Amino acid sequence: MDIKQDGEEGSLVLLKQGAEARVFESTFMGRRSVVKERFSKKYRHPSLDSKLTLKRLNAEARCMTKARGLGVYTPVLYAVDPVLHTLTFEYVEGRAVKDVLLHFGLHGVIAEQMESFAKQIGNAIAKIHDGGLIHGDLTTSNMLLRNDTNQLVLIDFGLSFTSTLAEDKAVDLYVLERALLSMHSSCGNVMDRILTSYRKSTKQWSSTFNKLAQVRLRGRKRVMIG
Ligand SMILES: Nc1ncnc2c1ncn2[C@@H]1O[C@H](COP(=O)(O)OP(=O)(O)OP(=O)(O)O)[C@@H](O)[C@H]1O
Ligand SMILES: [Mg+2]
Repeated sequence: MDIKQDGEEGSLVLLKQGAEARVFESTFMGRRSVVKERFSKKYRHPSLDSKLTLKRLNAEARCMTKARGLGVYTPVLYAVDPVLHTLTFEYVEGRAVKDVLLHFGLHGVIAEQMESFAKQIGNAIAKIHDGGLIHGDLTTSNMLLRNDTNQLVLIDFGLSFTSTLAEDKAVDLYVLERALLSMHSSCGNVMDRILTSYRKSTKQWSSTFNKLAQVRLRGRKRVMIG
């Protein structure tokens, strides 16, 4: 990609280098923005690779737009570039839920704020699940809190897909449960609060909850067998 001078329209500052994507900060029509570039896997055949990358790029854009349509805050999508394999989003001024919870872990939980985050997280997941959308990577890094409003914004729909199966919803919730247990156990049982709010918002609680119990058992067996 054409990397321009810092601050110039279209200049790129690397925020995160991942296994499948690079994320940059930039400006788009004078607005602070984020550019997510999917890059190729060298071991794949070039033309197949380009097709797959484009498919994932479009899927990510579509799923993010679908989530927004279901009433969940996501960054505004500014542009899709099928040649450069990039998505350009609104830059969300805020903190990751991960950093807020790590801060709580060190300095003590602010009960009211925790309640508000858990409520918003449960509500947002219920909305996308009831709309037949699975996020696919529900970690606390993929949830941002806007500075001014403390509004929850879901990001990173790179592994999202559409499904109405209770099993897929349960696995989505289980990924979050594991992430919270491993990273944020000092914050108390955040997942219980999230599930309480999820339960209030979803119309398909019992089938999803029963599946979640099964998924947890499978997870435990895997740990025991190793
Ligand atoms: N719209 C945004 N506003 C502010 N920061 C963002 C935004 N999008 C992404 N970020 C920051 O960049 C990081 C990486 O973005 P993202 O999670 O989309 O990519 P990734 O995890 O590398 O993707 P993937 O899991 O699809 O490989 C986020 O954790 C967040 O810190
Ligand atoms: Mg991510």
